[in-house]
Amino acid sequence: MTAFQPPRGNAPGPQLEGRVALVFGAGSAGDGWGNGKASAVAYARAGARVVAVDVDGDAAAVTRDIIRGEGLEAISVAADVTRLADVQQAVGQALAAFGRIDVLHNNVGITSQGGPIETTEDTWDRVMTVNAKSMFLTCKCVLPVMLEQGSGAIVNIGALGGVRWTGYAYCAYAASKGAVNSFTQSVALQYAAQGIRANCILPGVMDTPHIYSQISGFYASPDDMVAARNKLSPTGRMGDGWDVANAAVFLASDQARYINGVELLVDGGLHARCN
Ligand SMILES: NC(=O)c1ccc[n+]([C@@H]2O[C@H](COP(=O)([O-])OP(=O)(O)OC[C@H]3O[C@@H](n4cnc5c(N)ncnc54)[C@H](O)[C@@H]3O)[C@@H](O)[C@H]2O)c1
Repeated sequence: MTAFQPPRGNAPGPQLEGRVALVFGAGSAGDGWGNGKASAVAYARAGARVVAVDVDGDAAAVTRDIIRGEGLEAISVAADVTRLADVQQAVGQALAAFGRIDVLHNNVGITSQGGPIETTEDTWDRVMTVNAKSMFLTCKCVLPVMLEQGSGAIVNIGALGGVRWTGYAYCAYAASKGAVNSFTQSVALQYAAQGIRANCILPGVMDTPHIYSQISGFYASPDDMVAARNKLSPTGRMGDGWDVANAAVFLASDQARYINGVELLVDGGLHARCN
């Protein structure tokens, strides 16, 4: 009898065995699981060696230690993703430690309240720099490595708020996340024939530490915020960092080898609702 042969590209077992994942924004804004922290740990559990980068070196080290605590491999790097020199240094440390970069995961994003009247020019510039220019800088430094390898997968974290009004007046955030989508598509198409893919994940309303520090100001209290965001989701509850992380592992893996330039909504269906 012929042994069972799994379909090509659908091999069982760890999806990222032998790969190296460089995660910018791998810490978390507080205790618990942010999207970037969960993604870094999920990449490691899928077989990747992980470089956890964060402007908050302690937060990056927490993620690193969780991964090492599970007997898996990771290093941490303190770097500000808005500074080219810092990004270059992080890429250099990744290559020195592990010799290659297979996955570039851009998680860093900040939120600011306000429409054009309330938003200051400085806030607009800051949000665009942290959320959008950062991805230009990381791609600028990592793409030459991936081109040399002839392979790579880029996962950029956008937001449902970049393509829909989700009830929040945050024009700078929405515009910056829209830029993430078009930037990703541009990179995806330019390098598609050279073994490099780039995709976005667009989370909807997620229950991460980030919302308690950056979104709660929209509500009377954190409890009100949680209740309102659960109600907003068609599923009756917010998603969490693991929902983003599981999507990220899939997009980074060979199982998504023919998926390029997409905006994957991880939002419980919220994008399709019109009431
Ligand atoms: N939580 C949600 O509901 C939601 C919804 C849609 C999109 N998102 C997106 O998910 C991403 C973040 O989610 P999270 O829960 O992991 O947030 P988080 O704030 O917990 O994590 C972001 C990490 O990035 C780090 N960081 C901030 N500025 C940095 C800089 N200049 N350089 C390097 N690191 C920096 C922070 O220290 C933090 O550890 C953001 O892009 C956010 O816009 C979140």
